[in-house]
Amino acid sequence: MNFTNKDICEREKKVLSSIQKLPYCPIAIKNGKGALLYDYDGNEYIDFLSSASSSNIGHGNKEITQAVKNQMDKITQYTIAYFTCEPPVILAEKIINLAPGDNNKKVLYSTNGSESIDAAIKLSKGYTGRNKIISFYGAYHGSTYGSLSISAISLNMRKKIGSLLPDIYHFNYPICIKCPYGKNEAECNLECFEEIKSAFQMYLPADEVAAVFFEPIAGDSGIIVPPRRYVENLYKLCKENNILFVVDEIQQSLGRCGYWFSIEHFNIEPDLIVMGKSCGGGLPLGIVIGKGEIMECLNAPAHAFTLSGNATVCVAALKMIEIFERDNIIEQAKEKGSYLIDKLNHLKDKYPNVIKDVRGLGLSIGVDLPDKLATKKICYQCIKNGLLLISLGENTLRIQPPLIINKTQLDKSIEILENSINDFIKGKISDDAYIFINGW
Ligand SMILES: Cc1ncc(COP(=O)(O)O)c(C=O)c1O
Repeated sequence: MNFTNKDICEREKKVLSSIQKLPYCPIAIKNGKGALLYDYDGNEYIDFLSSASSSNIGHGNKEITQAVKNQMDKITQYTIAYFTCEPPVILAEKIINLAPGDNNKKVLYSTNGSESIDAAIKLSKGYTGRNKIISFYGAYHGSTYGSLSISAISLNMRKKIGSLLPDIYHFNYPICIKCPYGKNEAECNLECFEEIKSAFQMYLPADEVAAVFFEPIAGDSGIIVPPRRYVENLYKLCKENNILFVVDEIQQSLGRCGYWFSIEHFNIEPDLIVMGKSCGGGLPLGIVIGKGEIMECLNAPAHAFTLSGNATVCVAALKMIEIFERDNIIEQAKEKGSYLIDKLNHLKDKYPNVIKDVRGLGLSIGVDLPDKLATKKICYQCIKNGLLLISLGENTLRIQPPLIINKTQLDKSIEILENSINDFIKGKISDDAYIFINGW
């Protein structure tokens, strides 16, 4: 039986809870190859989303498939909660080598990003004996009660679900393009950083703060790269007050920003690094890595999941890392990112009324459009013309293709985006866009 996108989407509506979706066009993905995707109507798309930055290696990688098959022929998984297996051990050894700083580190597994953030919250509180946590407006750290408590991006995520964690303090992230103080770069005195220092003077005792949870590039806030001096000051403030500096690398590692970890852009060694999404080579995995003494501060079994760090996922992760190293994928992602940013800036010069800002590092790029309606229309038209992408916030296009995307595909994507911009300017894009494109 040949199903269509419509068939699958209608069946989905009947059986899957809608609360786990932010629906875009009714598209059902059938298969993928590299940076290309195919749906049930036979359409081909260039993937500019990488399954929400979880398929950095691209789709249908035969080496990963083979590694997974080989492992599954031996044993799919056996819980590390009671016994052990070799792949999670090899992966931990590998990740410890990749992470910034010395090797006096340990790893903890979960099955996704949110659970790993919860682990980092527990570890921060356990290690410092403090209860308060600092995070940022616009941040998305996950959907569990813990990770949601430190997020501040969506009222719908918080409504009707009762109490979240207490003692969470949100501050402005340094979003210079929309500076809450109306300053430009020359006038900036890091007012948003000073907010935290003032809080320490007036109502938030620094010696009660366990951790600052920080995204070195703020993903769902619109792919925001903070000023280096902000990050350095924040880190220094943490160190002066024995507050743990925890980085959420769930969306930006492994390799997306041109380094294994986005914090490497700032030359800082965080106390804890939290990973998810792409780190499992496309399979579900969450990782926290941190200094040994922090990782041992709770009593077992303080954070245990039956299937976390299972052998098959770890083998997929290891194969992905091997491919990244062998084929120099991360260095190439950096170059491809610069190439793409140049092309996007060229479009910005050509269409200044439509493209308002282009920013990013490596293959993590945000493009600001004038407003929500323009964003819905351009997003919709790109998808219709074979470029699969979504938006962030009101007016940012999220551009995060698989790192293995090639130059021809990048050029083709720019062509589709430019055509969509022209269609938008000429008023040729259907109002269906307002129905189909939902977003945050
Ligand atoms: C920065 C960041 N942190 C945490 C999460 C939550 O990860 P997961 O969906 O794997 O639970 C996400 C997911 O979008 C994210 O982008």
